[in-house]
Amino acid sequence: MKRTVRVPATTANLGPGFDSFGCALGLYNTYTFEAIDGGLEISGCAEKYCNPKNLSVRAYELTLREAGVPYTGLRMEMLETQVPVSRGLGSSAAMIVAGVVAANAEAGYPFDNRKMLELATRIEGHPDNLAPAFYGGLTASMMNDGIPDTVTYKMAEGLRFVVCIPTFELPTAKARKALPETYSRADAVYNLSHGAVLLKALETGDKPVISRALNDRLHQPYRFSLIPEYETVRRIALESGAIAFCISGAGPTLLALTDDRNFAGRLSARLAKETQKGWKVLSPDIDRHGAIVTEE
Ligand code: HSE
Repeated sequence: MKRTVRVPATTANLGPGFDSFGCALGLYNTYTFEAIDGGLEISGCAEKYCNPKNLSVRAYELTLREAGVPYTGLRMEMLETQVPVSRGLGSSAAMIVAGVVAANAEAGYPFDNRKMLELATRIEGHPDNLAPAFYGGLTASMMNDGIPDTVTYKMAEGLRFVVCIPTFELPTAKARKALPETYSRADAVYNLSHGAVLLKALETGDKPVISRALNDRLHQPYRFSLIPEYETVRRIALESGAIAFCISGAGPTLLALTDDRNFAGRLSARLAKETQKGWKVLSPDIDRHGAIVTEE
């Protein structure tokens, strides 16, 4: 049977929630999966991804194995790719989630979101992009001995994320290498207090508190220099009325929060005039469903 899987883009960290917070966005990758008797056929993506190391294939095999269902072979097609690669919008998480969800369907739906997230995290290493791709909406996750727990939060009506996507890529591995191994107690307290306050403020829509809470000391200060024009884009976003501003995931996409439907247009016009890195401004809805699988 052929299955179609649609997975949303995700923005992770949201400032202080390093490796924990994430939100699903209404930009989608769509794939088809079909179990076949022998072989691996991948189409619709770059040649370098057409092999057994493909993250969707690895996730598919892992999930079938965990369900006790033999893997016989796979035909997979990437039908539509709206999530840009290596930009901090969860493209690898989307690949992994697609494979897990497709294999879960193939196995007769033995696993709930939490178990699927556990399997996906074995490949990705951290749950912040994966959790919203499974659950939809705004999520916070924690890990204990490889087992995740995720809670979902409401976002106040009218709040939306605006993403500024540059033409250049920033591999997550490089952005993680830039981080220190240890942090001071002051920095740990700063982030946990800001994170806790941010989630409630996003729920109530308290804009002044959101703008003070959406800050961090664990990752962003070490990554600014990896993102050309970061400071310029930030200044223009704040001058254009952003409530708050941060790096999306590990970057290089930058994220602004707004409740003004005209903000994205204003920002886009100024970035086109005042920057050189081809920043594309999108204002996707928040995705509330997470990954969806349909059967033909
Ligand atoms: N939390 C991750 C990071 C997101 O900031 O490195 C990217 O996968």
